[in-house]
Amino acid sequence: MNLLAISGSLRKGSFNTSILRALAKYAPEGANVQVAAPIDRVPHFNPDLDGDAPPASVVEWRAELRAADGIIVCSPEYARGVPGALKNAFDWTVSSGDLEGKPLALINASPNFTGASTAHASLREILGTMGAVLLDDSCLSVAGVRGKLDEDGNVIDEDTRASLRHVLETLSKEVVDAQQRNAAS
Ligand SMILES: Cc1cc2nc3c(=O)[nH]c(=O)nc-3n(C[C@H](O)[C@H](O)[C@H](O)COP(=O)(O)O)c2cc1C
Repeated sequence: MNLLAISGSLRKGSFNTSILRALAKYAPEGANVQVAAPIDRVPHFNPDLDGDAPPASVVEWRAELRAADGIIVCSPEYARGVPGALKNAFDWTVSSGDLEGKPLALINASPNFTGASTAHASLREILGTMGAVLLDDSCLSVAGVRGKLDEDGNVIDEDTRASLRHVLETLSKEVVDAQQRNAAS
């Protein structure tokens, strides 16, 4: 099972990207978590460029999403909203429908006590609108993230580790269920 992990942060020392790297260690048997290249590789979304020959970086991005059995998004919140680069990258998938029916886990981490909850709610709405399948148990908000990772990006908080494992297990199970539903239809 191929799980594509997408960070909403472009920052080198990103907590959110560190969580995705840590998740690779918690993947259940048979699941492989691959952290995607940074999302600023696609241009600003412009429907005029989205014709028969979209930019090569967009073709690549869409192919990565299509090839994934499941997706994990982990993102910060900026100014009580979704990072523009992340929303921009996903805007390219509306016309191609790459998220349609795709099981997706959503994690938002912030050093603040709010746990990026506004961006979390907004992303749930956006990604759901784009067709992704998000379950309550595959959505997680991590508050006070600074104290939950060590300087190498390892998750040192036991409750957070357990929550991340639970998110991954839920996502993996949904991937299998979705494959069975598709095979039966
Ligand atoms: C311009 C700017 C706006 C921010 N706005 C918010 C915010 O609305 N809510 C929040 O929880 N954190 C906010 N933060 C703090 C980020 O959560 C923090 O920088 C976090 O480490 C970014 O995620 P990353 O470590 O994955 O890059 C903001 C940071 C910046 C630079």
